[in-house]
Amino acid sequence: MNKLMLIVLVSLGLFSCGGGGGSATPSNSVSSVIVSSLSSSSSSSSVIPVLKDLAEFPIGMEVSAADQTRSIFINKTQLPTIKTHFDSLVAGVIMKMSFLHPEEFKYHYTDADNLASFAAENNMILHGHTLIWHWDSQIPRWMKNYTGNWQTMLDDHVTQITTHFAGKVVSWDVVNEAIDQESKSGYRESIFYQKLGAKYIENAFVAARKADPSAVLYYNDYNIEASQKKLDLMLAMLDDFKARGIPVDGVGFQMHTNIYDPSIEQIQASFKAVADRGYIVRISEMDVTVNRYNAPYLTSILMQEQKNRYKSIIKAYLAAVPKAQRGGITFWGLVDGESWVNEIDPNYRDWPLLFNDDYSLKPAFLGVAEALREQ
Ligand code: G3I
Repeated sequence: MNKLMLIVLVSLGLFSCGGGGGSATPSNSVSSVIVSSLSSSSSSSSVIPVLKDLAEFPIGMEVSAADQTRSIFINKTQLPTIKTHFDSLVAGVIMKMSFLHPEEFKYHYTDADNLASFAAENNMILHGHTLIWHWDSQIPRWMKNYTGNWQTMLDDHVTQITTHFAGKVVSWDVVNEAIDQESKSGYRESIFYQKLGAKYIENAFVAARKADPSAVLYYNDYNIEASQKKLDLMLAMLDDFKARGIPVDGVGFQMHTNIYDPSIEQIQASFKAVADRGYIVRISEMDVTVNRYNAPYLTSILMQEQKNRYKSIIKAYLAAVPKAQRGGITFWGLVDGESWVNEIDPNYRDWPLLFNDDYSLKPAFLGVAEALREQ
């Protein structure tokens, strides 16, 4: 059954607009939704859908935690919007390898445990990101210098972490971004690959399943909707895993995409190729950039194109993935100004997300709502 869709009429005249998401400190009540919706609406009278109530699957948000920039425990102005629209969280940084496993025999769980408690207290699920990822700054230094048995060490890394979070984390990106369509092998020649070959990938899934049999285990990657070659390499890996009983439950399509390409047909066919093999499909890190041609500000045309693109991608997901295989949709950040795409180059600015910096809704938000409502 569909989750209840909460329609909020904001013409009550009880609250004033423009205060930003932090202008009130609402509790989990209908009026809290009115407050946060009101304060996040640029119009004075409208019907505002609650995203999580429009879907039967989790609607997720990437958050910062601990003492990180934009932590939900520090910048509390974002909480009303997050609590209103999302029922699933993922840590953008603090559950990566170097945070959870800073020294060979030392694990740091406090910050992620706090996030797990926050999620549970607010009726949200927590998705774990990520047990193994090649990104240089998130591989712990001790691991880079490790000279012992890599398979045992990585198995232990996965086992310790998944065991600790059993019951707190419902699903994991077990391995992130292991395919590289430009490399000779088809695999990213990361330190893990250099030490163990592609075997490290299946080892990680086997260890995770053993440590927490109830967690849903994902392979997560980017551009698999945009590069047929990359998709084919991933599918070949998954087909081989399936034939040999390697426990992969689903695929995360990161969906760091844009308003221009690839075509919706290609995106839908990519979702379908994975769904047809019986995997759960999750849109795991969605954002849609608009600024390929260096616009100085977000024009209304770009805003509308972004709305259409969000809508058509989500409709493609719903069309391609049967209900029972929908793992959910997670957006990679709340407000444009804090998106990772704006951290890369000080001379580049974009507006890839659903909310403006004052938490007001963008047309993109409505595109998502419209797609979900039409399912
Ligand atoms: O919070 C610290 C801040 O205190 C410090 O002053 C500043 C100085 O560099 O760094 C801040 O931490 C940064 C952190 O983001 C929070 O903004 C790290 O340097 C930076 O490396 C980190 O980048 C994250 C990146 O992964 C690497 O972990 C991005 O936020 C995060 O959005 C990005 O997420 C990845 C996914 O995990 C995998 N898919 C692609 C996606 C986007 O790159």
